[in-house]
Amino acid sequence: MLSSALHIPKIALATTFHFKKSMASSLGVASWVILGLVMVLATSTTNVEARAFFVFGDSLVDNGNNNYLATTARADSPPYGIDYPTHRPTGRFSNGLNIPDLISQQIGSESTLPYLSPQLTGQRLLVGANFASAGIGILNDTGVQFINIIRMFRQLDYFEEYQRRVTALIGAQRTKQLVNGALVLITVGGNDFVNNYYLVPYSARSRQYPLPNYVKYLISEYKKILSRLYDLGARRVLVTGTGPLGCVPAELAMRSRNGECSAELQRAAALYNPQLAQMLQQLNNKYGSDIFIAANTQQSHTDFITNPQAYGFTTSKIACCGQGPYNGLGLCTVASNLCPNRDVYAFWDPFHPSERANRLIVRQILNGNSRYMNPMNLSTILALDSMT
Ligand SMILES: *[C@@H]1O[C@H](CO)[C@@H](O)[C@H](O)[C@H]1NC(C)=O
Ligand SMILES: *[C@@H]1O[C@H](CO)[C@@H](O)[C@H](O)[C@H]1NC(C)=O
Repeated sequence: MLSSALHIPKIALATTFHFKKSMASSLGVASWVILGLVMVLATSTTNVEARAFFVFGDSLVDNGNNNYLATTARADSPPYGIDYPTHRPTGRFSNGLNIPDLISQQIGSESTLPYLSPQLTGQRLLVGANFASAGIGILNDTGVQFINIIRMFRQLDYFEEYQRRVTALIGAQRTKQLVNGALVLITVGGNDFVNNYYLVPYSARSRQYPLPNYVKYLISEYKKILSRLYDLGARRVLVTGTGPLGCVPAELAMRSRNGECSAELQRAAALYNPQLAQMLQQLNNKYGSDIFIAANTQQSHTDFITNPQAYGFTTSKIACCGQGPYNGLGLCTVASNLCPNRDVYAFWDPFHPSERANRLIVRQILNGNSRYMNPMNLSTILALDSMT
């Protein structure tokens, strides 16, 4: 069912497996024999790259592209990155690792570099690339206030450019295999509500469309983006829905009187997410394969928002870093309130989950049942693709 490109990860996985086995038995008498075998295997597969990973979308998955742009949507100064391995800001909108980093760990790769990073050259290109840019949405007019950001159509243009660069490196056929065999993550849509429709009262879009029609318009535009991604060779694409938009500290600060989630934004998420899942199903039917995998991040977020204590959080309403009610106003900067222990906060800043919350979300992406992942979870995908 899947293309032959998927033989590549199988070989890579087999190599990893033998390495592990050799380590486990390294105390044994015959260990040198196995080690020799491993070296033969490793040498024979050094030309074969591990599964590549491509990331598209907004600040929830940006690994630092905006550092290279003249934009106000950036996370390249402290205290961002305070719990990152280097303890320095990287452009990730997190205290530490973000969702793409944690997925990279699961597929056994290093984190993807931002596409605009000057370090993304040569063999590093084969790991994949991160095209995401904080502030963007499905629509071109989302995030206009951030000025210079990489909108979705441009991220896809860059993906084409990436493929030309890799072709120059390893040839057209292997590039196609690399892209077809890759895992893709796309996270976009939240900003089309918070940084467009609901950015200001009587926004242009809200005068143009009642909410249900706006959601339909978003879904139809998103469908075009995903079709182009397919045309560019993507064959396994994790598509996250929006979180519970009305419950983030920023919206509690701006819209909530007594700490309840904003009903209007919750209504938006409740309309959007099921239609997104439905649209993905339509695309899969059209392509006759499970290309697009819906990740119900609204559900995984809602789990720890409704019962933070059950997940080890002391609060899911107050951001760790920020100011004003719920630490939900303005930006997270060195002048903001900063909590001592980021692990007990579901939200790092007014909009973005903490690393620990990201871990819970990725755990559901990996192992969640059909309430979280449709038509299957990432463990199943990884197992399937390694057998094909
Ligand atoms: C966004 O802008 C690009 C470039 O101008 C254009 O090709 C694309 O159709 C636009 N998308 C939408 C949804 O208007
Ligand atoms: C998801 O992943 C786990 C493996 O970690 C598996 O046991 C489980 O059955 C999967 N769930 C579904 C619904 O596919």
